[in-house]
Amino acid sequence: MDSYSIGYANIALIKYWGKKSKDPVLPYNPNLSLRLDKLYTKTKIEKSESGQDEFYINDERQGADELKKIITFVNKFTPENREKIKIISYNTVPTAAGLSSSSSGTMALVLACNEYFRLEKSTEDLVKIAKEGSGSSCRSFYKMASWLEDGSVHEIKCDLDLAMMVLVVNEGRKKISSRKAMEDCVQTSSSYADWVKQARQDYKAILDALAKNDFTKIGKLTESNALAMHSTTKYANPPFSFLEEDSYLAMDIVKSLRSKGLEAYFTMDAGPNVKVLYLKENQKKIYEEILKVWKKKIILCTE
Ligand code: ADP
Ligand code: DP6
Repeated sequence: MDSYSIGYANIALIKYWGKKSKDPVLPYNPNLSLRLDKLYTKTKIEKSESGQDEFYINDERQGADELKKIITFVNKFTPENREKIKIISYNTVPTAAGLSSSSSGTMALVLACNEYFRLEKSTEDLVKIAKEGSGSSCRSFYKMASWLEDGSVHEIKCDLDLAMMVLVVNEGRKKISSRKAMEDCVQTSSSYADWVKQARQDYKAILDALAKNDFTKIGKLTESNALAMHSTTKYANPPFSFLEEDSYLAMDIVKSLRSKGLEAYFTMDAGPNVKVLYLKENQKKIYEEILKVWKKKIILCTE
């Protein structure tokens, strides 16, 4: 089969940060995301000629650990006696840099398996399968989605034309994966219980703000939720941080936009790169202002 399946990245406004259960995968707190249609993964599956399962990202053969992780997941929902496969995948975003390659990659993989093995699953079933591969990927099936503590995934209606750009601080692979980092925070961070409490409140508040089209409130909650997530890493044992010097510079730039009357808010995931949330109608002005002071790469994420 020659056609690729496409999976999209999503960025959480209210973060998923910790598993209450690993099997099935359930988050400790409700979370909510915006899909970024310009950041995607395309994946296709072919019959393996080597007699072994193989996994390629951007033409690079993945090592034993990555292969094992992916194949363990694939085996959960494909036929027991399946033939050996070659998974060929291309990420448009840097892999494992906090730009959500896990969500776009997992969505694309699930769709590609559905095609190749003719599983004929419904979207609801594919969503359930995807979260067992990578929690955040279940949200990528909808433009805006929430994933709740009971495991259910919901499409969220939003009348605002929300958009994002990324101020790229570092495209390199992070030293610690999202999975390991969140696990360390659940187990050792003295602020983890506070995080869960805060995130549950933030989730309720953002639903209210979305219903009222209150962008200022949505933006403020997005920022404070990201900062609360990152503070759990500071109080982990040992402490660690995903943020770099330029991440702080990027946050300052976003704040200074607001003092000029341009409404924009930041959020960061498990990586140093800073995403900027704004209303699409302001994209041109915001981009021009940022270009004056940000000398590194910028990725516009929405059409
Ligand atoms: P990110 O911030 O990019 O989401 P994570 O640490 O959360 O980084 O996840 C990176 C992991 O996501 C990779 O190690 C790999 O297991 C998975 N992943 C990335 N790209 C793909 C892909 N194209 N297909 C399948 N899985 C992928
Ligand atoms: C910081 O979904 O990559 O991006 O379920 O272990 O695969 P696993 O983790 P993953 O974690 C995403 C964490 C986050 C926040 C978010 O997207 O909600």
